Amino acid sequence: MKRLVITHAAELITCQGCAPKTGLAMSQLDIIEDGAVVIEDGIIERTGSTEQIVAALKGTEYVTLDAGGKCVLPGFIDSHNHFVFGGYRAEEFSWRLKGDSYMAIMERGGGIANTVRATRQASREELTELAKTRLDDMLAMGITTVEGKSGYGLDLDTEIKQLEVLNDLAGQHPVEVIPTFLGAHAVPSEYQGHSGEFIDFLIEKVLPVVAERNLAKFCDVFCEKGVFSVDESRKLLLAAQKLGLKSKLHADEIVQLGGSELAAEIGAVSADHLLHISDMGIAQMAEKNVVATLLPATAFSLREPYARGREMIDRGVPVALASDFNPGSCFTQSIPLIIALAALNMKMSPAEIITALTINAAAAIDSADRLGSIEAGKQADILILEYPSHLYLPYHIGMNIVETVVKKGKVVWT
Ligand code: NIG
Ligand code: FE
Repeated sequence: MKRLVITHAAELITCQGCAPKTGLAMSQLDIIEDGAVVIEDGIIERTGSTEQIVAALKGTEYVTLDAGGKCVLPGFIDSHNHFVFGGYRAEEFSWRLKGDSYMAIMERGGGIANTVRATRQASREELTELAKTRLDDMLAMGITTVEGKSGYGLDLDTEIKQLEVLNDLAGQHPVEVIPTFLGAHAVPSEYQGHSGEFIDFLIEKVLPVVAERNLAKFCDVFCEKGVFSVDESRKLLLAAQKLGLKSKLHADEIVQLGGSELAAEIGAVSADHLLHISDMGIAQMAEKNVVATLLPATAFSLREPYARGREMIDRGVPVALASDFNPGSCFTQSIPLIIALAALNMKMSPAEIITALTINAAAAIDSADRLGSIEAGKQADILILEYPSHLYLPYHIGMNIVETVVKKGKVVWT
C-alpha cells in the first residue's frame, strides 16, 4: 500500500516526549510549523516540515492529504467512559435539577441499580447497536480511542455480556475500545448490606472468567463512602493484578475517603474523579506517577466543585481529561464541553488541555508507547481541525471544530 502523507499543517502538534507528561512539560506541545507526517501501514514513519518531507520523498509514490494550512494534532483519547448500557435515567436527572442528590437517589434504589435492571434485560446485540451509535458521536468529535467499562451487570452473565460487547466492537467501528472490568461499580440488591461478600464473589467467580477469556485490560472500582471501602477496593484490585489486570479507581469523588492514596500504594495506572482529593493524595500520586484522570463534565452535571487540576499539575501529578459518559452522573461525551470547562473553570491552558486529552490520556490507558502523539513508530491516529491553531479549540466554546479524523492511517471521518 502507498504511503499517506499529510502536508501543510500550519501547526503540526506532535505532543511527543515521554509520557505521562507532568508539570511544565504538559504545556510543551512540540509544534512543527508547516508540518508534514508520513504514514505507512497505519504507523507514523516520520515527521518534519512539509518542505523537508516532500524533498525526502521525491521520486517515490504516495498519496497526499493536504491539511491546507490548518492545525493537525493527535486523535483524542477518552480514557474514562461507561458507554455500554441499557435504558435511560432522564427522570432522575429532573429530580436532581430540583435538588435531589446523586447519592440519595442511589440509596433509594435508583441510580446505578436502575441502569443495571435495563442492562440485564438488553441483549448483546441491542447493547452493541447502541454502543455503535455512541461511538459514531465520539468519532465526530475526534475521539480515536475510548476506554469502556462494564459495571451495569453486577452479576456474572451481564458483566461478561458487557465485556463481550466492548470486545466485539473491535473491527466493527473505527474507534478503538479498551475494555475495563468494573464489576465493583455498586452493591447489587442481592448483596445489599454485604459489600464484602460481593467483593469475594467478584474475586472468586467473575474475575477468573474475565482474565481467562482476556476480556479486560483494567479492573476498576467505585471506592466511595457507602459503596466500596478502601480495604475492599484494595482486596479486589490486588486480586485482579495477580491475574494480569491493571488498576484504575473511581476515587474521592463524592467524599474524601483515601482512594487516591490507595491508587499510589498499589501502583494503579490512574485514579479518576478526585473532586475531594486530599493534599496527601496529591503528593503520593505525584510521587508514584499515577495519572489523575479529571472528569469536569461530571462535576458540572452534579454541581460539585471541580477537581484541583491546576494544583495537581503544579505539584507534578500527570493530569488527563476524560468524559465519564454514563447514563446517570454525566450524560455527555462532548469533548468540546470538557475543553471549555477545563479552560474556564479549572485554569488549565490550551496546551495542557491538549496534552491531557492525548499523550497523558494514552498513559491513563497504559498505551503511551503506541498512542497519544505524532511521532515515528506510533499508530497514525490524527485530527485535522477547521482552523490553523490549537488556540481555536478552547476559543470555540462547546463547538466541534474537528474537520477530518484519521485512524490507523485511514481517513475515517470528514
Ligand atoms: O463515574 N461514580 C460512579 N460511576 C459513574 C456513574 C455511574 C452512573 O450513575 O450510572 C461515574 O460517575
Ligand atoms: Fe465513571
